[in-house]
Amino acid sequence: MKLIVLGATGGTGLELVRQGVEHGHSVTAFVRSPERLKVFGDRIVIRQGQLLSSEQLAGAIEGHDAVLSGFGPRVPVAKEDAHLLQDFAVALTSGMRHAGVRRAVVESVAFLFRDAIVPPAYLLGRLLFPRVVADASAMERVFAESDLDWTMVRPPELTDKGYTGKYRVREGHLPRFGFRISRADVADFMLRAAENRVASRKVVGVCN
Ligand SMILES: NC(=O)c1ccc[n+]([C@@H]2O[C@H](COP(=O)([O-])OP(=O)(O)OC[C@H]3O[C@@H](n4cnc5c(N)ncnc54)[C@H](OP(=O)(O)O)[C@@H]3O)[C@@H](O)[C@H]2O)c1
Repeated sequence: MKLIVLGATGGTGLELVRQGVEHGHSVTAFVRSPERLKVFGDRIVIRQGQLLSSEQLAGAIEGHDAVLSGFGPRVPVAKEDAHLLQDFAVALTSGMRHAGVRRAVVESVAFLFRDAIVPPAYLLGRLLFPRVVADASAMERVFAESDLDWTMVRPPELTDKGYTGKYRVREGHLPRFGFRISRADVADFMLRAAENRVASRKVVGVCN
């Protein structure tokens, strides 16, 4: 497949790029700062640009089969990034429409699962990271209101542990005792969701 990764210099994004290449896909990374991707040499296509510009996104995305996003605010979240995910979603959905690309697999946050009890994801999110909850909700709403073929992947705490392939997935819910998952495993699920076109217009909980 021809895949384009957004947030490709981030923790999950780097895994998406690495595993995408391993799976034999043609991978494009559209980033603001390409230095971190030098290790991939000529095995990927790197495009530099502004990820909040729908025009630039449309230009980068055109010709790809799917968009994979590990984009998100760098932590700790700066004040000016309070609406970053929402702004990104507005630019991306518009860019995808213009580019004629319909499929996107997007990393969101497990804090949005209102029905999770162990852990009480929504409550924790509202207490500890209210701005992240508001911004990620707004991002998801933008996609839900679009006619695109999206999948929202909502992990709990992310770790930098390696790939295990042993993770749990539940449509519409966070699996019970879903406390954390490695970025490598999230990337594995996201790639497979793109390859197999599963969970179209669905929210999915993933955890180890
Ligand atoms: N941390 C957690 O425990 C946790 C838990 C659940 C969900 N999540 C969500 O999962 C996603 C991925 O998290 P992560 O920790 O793997 O990512 P990360 O390492 O924080 O990387 C974020 C990526 O987004 C890019 N980015 C941020 N602001 C940008 C901007 N204004 N313009 C262009 N690019 C920008 C960064 O680019 P640069 O390299 O150029 O900065 C980087 O590639 C995020 O949406 C996060 O909210 C996180």
